[in-house]
Amino acid sequence: MSASQAELARLAELRQQIAHHNYLYYVEAAPVISDREFDQLLDELTALEKKYPELITPDSPTQRVGGSPISGFRTVTHRVPMLSIDKCTTPAELREFDARLRKLLNSKSLRYVVEPKIDGVAISLTYVHGLLDVGVTRGDGERGDDVTHNLRTISSVPLRLHTDHPPALFEARGEIYMTKADFAALNEQYKAAGERTAANPRNFAAGSLKLLDPRECAKRKLRLFTYSTGAVEGVTLATHEETLATLRAFGFPVNPEVRFFNDIDGVIDCCHQWNDRRSSLPYEIDGLVIKLDNLKQREELGATSKHVRWAIAYKFEAEEGITRILDIEISVGKYGEQTPVARLAPVQLAGTTVQYASLHNAAQVKAKDIRIGDMAVVVKRGDIIPHVEQVLVELRTGSEKPFVFPANCPVCGAPTKLNETETTYVCTATATCPAQLQGRLESFAKRERMDIAGIGEEMARALVQSGLVKKVTDLYSLTEEKLLTLERVGKKTAQNLLKGIEASKSRGLGRLLSALSIPNVGESMGGLLARAFPSLDRLLAASKADLAQVEGFGPTRADSVWEFFHSPTGQELVADLRAAGLKLTEDVAAPVGNALAGKTVVVTGTLTKYKRNEIEALIEQHGGKAAGSVSKNTSFLVAGAEAGSKLAKAQALGVPVLSEEEFDALLRGG
Ligand code: IVH
Repeated sequence: MSASQAELARLAELRQQIAHHNYLYYVEAAPVISDREFDQLLDELTALEKKYPELITPDSPTQRVGGSPISGFRTVTHRVPMLSIDKCTTPAELREFDARLRKLLNSKSLRYVVEPKIDGVAISLTYVHGLLDVGVTRGDGERGDDVTHNLRTISSVPLRLHTDHPPALFEARGEIYMTKADFAALNEQYKAAGERTAANPRNFAAGSLKLLDPRECAKRKLRLFTYSTGAVEGVTLATHEETLATLRAFGFPVNPEVRFFNDIDGVIDCCHQWNDRRSSLPYEIDGLVIKLDNLKQREELGATSKHVRWAIAYKFEAEEGITRILDIEISVGKYGEQTPVARLAPVQLAGTTVQYASLHNAAQVKAKDIRIGDMAVVVKRGDIIPHVEQVLVELRTGSEKPFVFPANCPVCGAPTKLNETETTYVCTATATCPAQLQGRLESFAKRERMDIAGIGEEMARALVQSGLVKKVTDLYSLTEEKLLTLERVGKKTAQNLLKGIEASKSRGLGRLLSALSIPNVGESMGGLLARAFPSLDRLLAASKADLAQVEGFGPTRADSVWEFFHSPTGQELVADLRAAGLKLTEDVAAPVGNALAGKTVVVTGTLTKYKRNEIEALIEQHGGKAAGSVSKNTSFLVAGAEAGSKLAKAQALGVPVLSEEEFDALLRGG
């Protein structure tokens, strides 16, 4: 049976429509139809193709994941070699680059492009008469692997160029990458399934392209940015700007963060700005690429044996490195939690020498199978404490030793036990362990809590070790005389400290509750609790059920709070607080606006302008509700840098995501 004219026309129309909606969704990020409507179109096409399999074309949208696994990779020679570029790390080197180019080209000024250097995998996509013919990895620059079967599965890779007059040959080059959120979510999924995880999005993307089964690759959520052409016939391009415009017109995704400058000062300025902006991107970049805009000038400059002369990479300081775990030590926290810390062979990360990295808890050590002597991938991003992402099992020699958690707290010697979630060992001497007390004292004095300047790690240790403070409320019976017995404390320091302690008495109930190290009650919870029970007396009179009604509370938190205050130590604490004359009530602030009335807002990632409790307070002052987790009832998510699974979930549920700036604009009514 052959297809009717009407069916033939419908086949063509469906393919064109699906490709168009795919493009709007994945490249423009501006879909105009719902997922359901899209699926209907795809279903209709699939049904027609099932009826007439001989009419299936290679660029049909149904063919993205059509292929069966391949048995190995074919090597392909690049028509034009994929060269690399030199790198630098300082503005002075950028000036040298500019001076060199101006001299070689005998030119006063040059036009430059600055683009993010996507930390992904370089690939080439060749289109013959407009149809995707082959997709190849960079390989050694001369030859790469044919990974067409996997590249076809990436929705933002056009299967056909968006033009009625395709050039005979068109090679687009760019980078395959993965967003931080997709990486976090997928890695999480693999971890849960007990499968091997990747150290970073780049490795994940590279590994995905090397899969033999395209159906597996299709699940990896890879994306594309193109930034240049390779071999082309039938198109002439004069500048980079034109190249990008052509790529865009042909349906390729092009990074919108491209800037043009007519002098190197502009370039350098731009590089400086990226130092701060970098972490706000949803994908990782390891630097910027500075290129000459004019393609003829590029040709004139040519290349050395290693690099092209017309571009340079301005690399950021590495945030990730590989080093050896020399030992694992235990640090004891304010709840007695025994946090394993890796002592490392020193490694330079993000401009600092890193010698210690957190291993989080016993469960993580077990899940990542971290052993003493292992080579490890260590990550330090911005202000975040360095952590061990994974160990390189393939580099083991056999002399690595598994870590056994001590049965006794290394600080006080009391027995340790696993907590209820079986993730962490805890010291059982809650009241007497000096490490726990020191932790509680430091936490109590923090700026966001009781704000006692002068009590940091060192002072807290001195107060505890000297025996001047045996419980946190002992702070309020310190005298100048007592403080002067401490080493390195003079009259001035003692007086300032006492002033700070006195001032802390009036912080109010919310901050006090946040400061008391009540299990499961962090900074924002103290405020919420105090708003619901604006005096300590009312809080003490509340039942567990009353407490569970508090915004953001559930039975676990409610139990924690109730048990805390109704235990003998809790009762004693309350008596001490009263005796010391602390303010045990909360002035409930009137709302300042209603821009967020009826809205449920979730905050995630590292914010630059607000502390977490500040933004949550703002949300509430404007009539909104600050929630902890993303659901379909979330009105929007405010995402800072390094946002992970919450961002992924919001994107999956179609919950709008706002930057801090957009959030501010919303409050201002913009
Ligand atoms: S331009 C002649 N632009 O960085 C090579 N490269 O060595 C011109 N990369 O392997 C490359 N983002 O994979 C260029 N916006 C960008 C890039 C970029 C990432 C990678 C590329 C290449 C390496 C440079």
